[in-house]
Amino acid sequence: MKILSGTSNLKLSRNISKQLKLKLVNTNIKRFADGEIYVEINENIRGNSVFVIQSTSNPANDNLMELLLVIDALRRSSAKNITAVIPYFGYARQDRKVVPRTSISAKVVANLITNAGAHRVVTVDLHAGQIQGFFDMPVDNLFTTPLFARYIKRKLKSRKLICVSPDVGGVQRTRGLATKIKAELAIIDKRRPAPGKSQVMNIIGDVKGKTCIIVDDIIDSGGTIVNAVEALKKSGAQEVYVFITHAVLSGEAVSKIKKSKIKKLIITDTIDNSQKIKNNNKIEVISISSLMGEAIKRISNSNSVSDLFN
Ligand code: R5P
Repeated sequence: MKILSGTSNLKLSRNISKQLKLKLVNTNIKRFADGEIYVEINENIRGNSVFVIQSTSNPANDNLMELLLVIDALRRSSAKNITAVIPYFGYARQDRKVVPRTSISAKVVANLITNAGAHRVVTVDLHAGQIQGFFDMPVDNLFTTPLFARYIKRKLKSRKLICVSPDVGGVQRTRGLATKIKAELAIIDKRRPAPGKSQVMNIIGDVKGKTCIIVDDIIDSGGTIVNAVEALKKSGAQEVYVFITHAVLSGEAVSKIKKSKIKKLIITDTIDNSQKIKNNNKIEVISISSLMGEAIKRISNSNSVSDLFN
């Protein structure tokens, strides 16, 4: 077994490699002056099972293309098995036709990864679990709920907790966390009047005097979370902690969070945000490297991955 990293999140790849006590495969991945990507594998990988770690985060298209070229290079170098480890799976929010005449981009991405030559995909908190069905190969979707539950039990245990889903789509994820930490559940009825804009209509549940735990898969512009926090505070919430797997943090998101009434935003490192969140004590990062390392080990040894979450 070998692990190889793309360039989108080297920090995470290095931590996973430490965890597995394996060196990253020696590669030469660079950009030509016109933006084209060049990939070269500098060691023999013939007959090996290779795990390629690459988040398709911003710049999504470049990082996706790089992943495809690495997979292609591995296939042409006779790797026995290629697993695309995609901690953050970009384009996942475009998983259906919300209005007529639009692309189902997540399916196009799945086709590209398949045709490049991957045999398996490992990812984390897929925006929609059914994206697994876009692939005709095994897809292991890892969950961050145990990591978040551990943090909450360690740091927030004496508080009166209630888990809050920031929209109806996130109820299952939020209920999973609420069950694990034995907390109540509330739901925010969110509407999107226009793409990229969100509006809180109602809060279902009693949050008065409680510590709210919002959990979501993605924070992008920050609109959903900042509005949710505002609404919860207006309804009498004591304080609001936010747990997010994929911190896309586009545009003014970081400064919006700084100015908001969020007590703390806890994110993972599926996307490398080291520069963006430098010296920001409102944002804390929990690493998923040990979870990913363990999952890779189990896949390689043909052991159960789902046991990690029981
Ligand atoms: C939507 O269904 C996702 O789970 C997130 O709530 C959404 O992507 C967050 O976007 P933003 O931060 O731009 O409101």
